[in-house]
Amino acid sequence: DDITLKSATENNFFVGVAVSETRTNLPAYDEVYTREFSSITAENDMKMASIFTGIDGSGNIIYDWSKVDGLIAYAEANNLNVHGHTLIWHRSLPQALENFAGTDQEFEDLIEQYITDVLTRYQGKINSWDVVNEAIDDDPNIQWRNTIFLQRMGVDYVEKCFAFARAADPNVKLFYNDYNMTFDATKRGKVLTLVDDLLLNDLIDGVGYQMHIDYNFPTKQQIQDATDDLVAKDVLIHFAELDVKVNAANDLTELTEERAIAQAQRVKEVVEIFNAIPQSKKYAITLWGLKDNDTWLIPENNGRPEWPLLFDASFNKKEAYQGFLEGL
Ligand code: XIL
Repeated sequence: DDITLKSATENNFFVGVAVSETRTNLPAYDEVYTREFSSITAENDMKMASIFTGIDGSGNIIYDWSKVDGLIAYAEANNLNVHGHTLIWHRSLPQALENFAGTDQEFEDLIEQYITDVLTRYQGKINSWDVVNEAIDDDPNIQWRNTIFLQRMGVDYVEKCFAFARAADPNVKLFYNDYNMTFDATKRGKVLTLVDDLLLNDLIDGVGYQMHIDYNFPTKQQIQDATDDLVAKDVLIHFAELDVKVNAANDLTELTEERAIAQAQRVKEVVEIFNAIPQSKKYAITLWGLKDNDTWLIPENNGRPEWPLLFDASFNKKEAYQGFLEGL
């Protein structure tokens, strides 16, 4: 029949997919992106290392806007929401910043300039941004991950970045995004405290829980509890970067029917939990890739094969796709 992820969630929440500008130009991808999804996020093309290509002799940032411009044009042509990912992330650091020999104040000025330039250029075209990604440390006893941003800008660097973003474009929605939010209650508590602090100065609009989960972990109750904690805050909720691993035990060499059904059940649970969030707080569920063979969880990164997405290598809908629809 004609039901798609997009039609099934219309007027409810966005269903997003991580894309690349290159793939938007490939007909087979384009067909599914535009048929099934209402929102896009660049898997890599809007990260700092992709945009900020250097610093010129006068100290000005050199930009490459080509991929972002292409994605914005694609979104406009196809009526897609754009969630920007991500302004500040320690794992997407331009060489020129890593090697920057200037003072801490000059470093901070570059960050302010970068955030201001990006938000000004795409004002009204990008609806929301992950301002800072993965800034909270995994160690329960450490608040901030030790990054160049912490070292150069100090313990209030996250707040500074949100303030730069708010000042550059008061209308764009500002998100904080992080992983392990569902099962690591200690880390989640640190994020929730950050949210409270940012809300005091009206500097945040939403939170992304990266949903890199397994078919059998965490429990449904853990996901529910983590979601309830966010519903208690005055923020939009993004289930970001959803993919569902099925091979953590490395017992599969191909996706079996049994495991595909278990994965579909998991996707259904996640969608059910999201869909039950009060309407005004539901922002989006974003899949971290379109089809299984495009996943970032390739053996080189992940140690074993995975089939974590809603479409198979031939662009066919998997059981997990049906699980998404059943969760609504
Ligand atoms: C990943 C991409 O999927 C990869 O292609 C890239 O090589 C590294 O980044 N958390 C995030 C995402 O916030 O930006 C990451 O995306 C996956 C983990």
